[in-house]
Formats: sequence, C-alpha cells, structure tokens
Amino acid sequence: MDKNFYITTPIYYPSAKPHMGHAYSSIIADFFARFKRIDGFNVSFLTGTDEHGLKIQRAAENKGLEPLAFCDEISKTFKDLSKTLNLTNTDFIRTTEERHIKSVQNLWNELEKNDDIYLSKYSGWYSVSDEAFYTEEEIEEVDGKKISISSKSPVEWMDEESYFFRLSKWEKKLLDYYEKNSDFILPKSRRNEVISFVKGGLKDLSVSRKSFSWGIPVPNNKEHVIYVWLDALTNYISALNYPDIKNKKYKTFWPATVHLIGKDILRFHAVYWPAFLLAAKLPLPKKVYGHGWILSGEEKMSKSKGNILDPIEIIDQYGLDPLRYYLIKEVSFGNDGNISQEKLEDCINSDLANNFGNLCQRVTAFAIKNCEGTIPKMIEFNQDDLKILDKFKTNLDLIRDKIDKQDINFYIDFIVNSLFDANKYFNDEEPWKKKDDISRLNTIVYTSLEIIRKICYMLYPIIPESSLKALKIFSIEEKKIELSSIENHNYLKGGDKIKKIDILFKKIEKNHD
Ligand code: MSP
Repeated sequence: MDKNFYITTPIYYPSAKPHMGHAYSSIIADFFARFKRIDGFNVSFLTGTDEHGLKIQRAAENKGLEPLAFCDEISKTFKDLSKTLNLTNTDFIRTTEERHIKSVQNLWNELEKNDDIYLSKYSGWYSVSDEAFYTEEEIEEVDGKKISISSKSPVEWMDEESYFFRLSKWEKKLLDYYEKNSDFILPKSRRNEVISFVKGGLKDLSVSRKSFSWGIPVPNNKEHVIYVWLDALTNYISALNYPDIKNKKYKTFWPATVHLIGKDILRFHAVYWPAFLLAAKLPLPKKVYGHGWILSGEEKMSKSKGNILDPIEIIDQYGLDPLRYYLIKEVSFGNDGNISQEKLEDCINSDLANNFGNLCQRVTAFAIKNCEGTIPKMIEFNQDDLKILDKFKTNLDLIRDKIDKQDINFYIDFIVNSLFDANKYFNDEEPWKKKDDISRLNTIVYTSLEIIRKICYMLYPIIPESSLKALKIFSIEEKKIELSSIENHNYLKGGDKIKKIDILFKKIEKNHD
C-alpha cells in the first residue's frame, strides 16, 4: 500500500494579515497531516504565500512599499501564524522564491513546447480581488458598479495583448478524468458544479499580463508576466523540486494526495490546474477538496468585506486547542459555518473540560489513591469492559476509511460518543464501591485508563497540545503515538507509574445574556 501522503493548503495572498478563514484551511490540513503521521504515513504538508499579481502590487503601493518588501513583511505573519496554530507543515513556500520561479518558467516552456500557448489579445472583465476573468454572464451591475455575481468583487475592463492557454482543447480529457475518478472533486455537490461548468464549454484562458510587472516574466517575452494563477498553482510541484522530476521528493509525493482548498477557488484547482498538468504531461492530483466558508453573519469572512475575525485574538482569550476543536467540530466539514463565542465556550465547558478533562482527572485521581499510583496488574476483563474497549478495535478500519474520504464529522462524532461512553462506564461501574473486590476495581481502573489513552490518540490530530498533556499520565511522548495501537487492549503495562496532571481545560464562567 502507498504509505506516502501529500497534503497542501492554498497558498495565501499576503495582501493583509491572516484571518480566521485562512486559519481554518490550515488547521484542517494539519488535522489530516497529524492523523496520517500517527497512522504510519510518510507525510509532506505544504503551505505558503502567493505573492505576485496586481492585487499584491496594488496593496504594496497603498502602503508605499516595494512589492517584495511588502510581501516579506506579511508573508512572515502567515509563517508566524503556522507556528501559533501548531501546524506541522513540512515546508512553507513563497512564490517569490527562486525555486518556484524556475519551476513556473519551466512549466511555461513545457506548455509552449507542446503548442498549448499562443499569443493573442484579451478583451473582457477582470477582478483584481479574485485575480479572475469573468464573462458577461458572470457579472452584474449593482449601484452602477460591475461586480462578479459569485464573489461580489468589483471587476474592471481589460484590453491587452496576452498569451492564451488552449484550455478548450482539454475539455473532453477533463470530463473523462472526473468520470473515471469519482472522488477527484469532493464534496459531491462541488463535483457536480465543476462538471456542469466544463460541460458548458471551456474557453481558452488568458495566462499573461502586459500592463504591470509584478510577476514572473514569460521566458521568451519579458514584456509579459505570467498570470498569477498559473504561477500560484505550480507551487504544489515547485516544493517537490520540479522540474527535477527524478528527485526523491517529487517521486515520493507527486501526485498530491489532496489539495485542500476553500470552495471559492475550486475552478482553479479542479479545471485549470489539471488542464495545465495534462498539457505538461504530468500526473494529476488525486483529490481536490473544497471546504465551506467561515462566515461573518451571513457573509464570507474576507478582508475586502472588512468583517474579519483575528484568530490570534481568539487564541489569546481561549487558547489554541479550544479554537482547533471548535473549528473541526462545530463547522460541519464541507459546509459553511459561523464562529460564535457562546458556542465556543459551550465546547470548552462541556466537551473539553467536563467530558474529556474531567474524565482524565477523575480516573487518575482514583487510580493514584486506590492503585498505589500505578497501572493496575492482574486484569480480568468481563463482557462490559470488552464491549467498550472493542469499539476502537472494530472501528479502526472504518475510521481510516472515513478519514480518507475527509469525513471529519464521523471522526469527531466517534470521539464525542466515546467520551460519553467512557464517563458512563466509570460512573456505572462504581469502582469506589469495589474496595473489597480489588481484582474488579483494578480492572475497571485499567479499562478506563486504556480508554483514556485511546481517546487521547484520536484527539491528538485535533488538540495536539492537550492530548500530549493528558498522555503524560502514562509518560507517553508524541513520537510513541501509533494509531494502530488503539486496537490493543493491553497496551498499558501493569506496574508503570501513573502521573498526576494539571487541569487540562478551565471552565469558562458564562456571563452572556
Ligand atoms: N492565493 C489564492 C490561492 C492560491 S492556491 C494555489 C487565494 N488566496 S486567499 O488568501 O484569498 O484565500 C485562500 C484560502 O483561504 C481560500 O481558498 C480558503 O481556503 C481560505 N479562506 C479565505 N477566506 C475564508 C473564509 N472566510 N472561510 C474559510 N476559508 C477561507 O485564494
């Protein structure tokens, strides 16, 4: 079986500092990367910043800075955010780096060589905010201004000499690929959107600009810069040392397992990117997953709408793991979702402090007091113990399968139910009443500790820091976590010391009306 896993986030525009929407894509990608790593996969996880194009050039001009100096500053805030979010990305790419420029120019040369690029003239609408071309049918007029119907961003008229990519030539091949690879675009609803867009007919795509200079020059015509999306999408292979396709990184990780993106940029990833790759005779990614938006009220949170929520503020107030937990659990994956402080506090109080934190505290306190502070020995599981333990074993393959389908909702429900069952088990078994049946008392404590260990493993991709804190009970360190061992009911060694841990989550005093 292929045990390599390559996941990417979109590369973010450093036109302004990151907001919650960016944090969301990155946290979800980190969740998958961590899950796969503890499941024994060799993981490559890429994120970065998308630094060329008119949008960035204008943002820099507004600040009176040279584009690169401007990007240096803001790209750093994205890089810092990766650390703040505790991401385990293995690389961070900037499209202004030499390795990327070389890679994009090489791809361009391949497309040109294969007769997929020609020089002509573009006359039409363009949105700088989306860095996208729109047809007459895709725009509307509101208050005398032309805007894109889908993104609501303003569009401007463009009339200039431009190189074109023969996108129309790839229509049939793309449809075949979607047909043969039914999981290439997920969720399913998004797949249908893309298919009907392609079936509607593809026009050749303008892939260079002449009226500004902030971009990667077209190799044989320095008057043009390469269209920012052709530039940006190539980052996924630049990071694998493309054009050197014989190198180990490329051979190990391409094609990517999954490009995780927001639904707003699906067309670029599910139509343009595979078409560029087909034209360059390179393999196509295995999957593009378009997740929903973090909303602010009813609208997409975005800098241009001025309705952004700063992830750093939430983290300062509540901590990182509660935010990670909230985004993964409360925003139903694939759909749009809101962040409400009240719901975040409910998550902390009920799921994290009560159901998880309290379980860890209660069981360890009881074990320290009644089992001499060690993992009990001489265990004799009965049917009830085995029933709750077996749930992990019998569901392990299903859990893996669901994760491969990006069904995070299943995963989190499994954890929430397991926490509920674990608390119920400890309450119902009443070990405090078993002091004259030491063997039974020991077995209940052992079973509860085993369940805590298994749940901590499953929580690790979601709330890594807190999970590791809890695993200190057993002196289990990060590199020791192996998902497959949730099948094992006798992992903990009788006689090993149990460590007391600090409170994992403090309850929040609710003072909302
Ligand atoms: N630079 C391009 C992507 C190039 S990828 C080759 C871009 N950048 S962006 O900064 O505008 O947005 C990137 C991604 O951030 C979105 O696709 C999405 O994944 C995430 N989000 C931005 N705003 C978001 C929300 N309000 N909600 C959820 N995710 C959003 O597009």
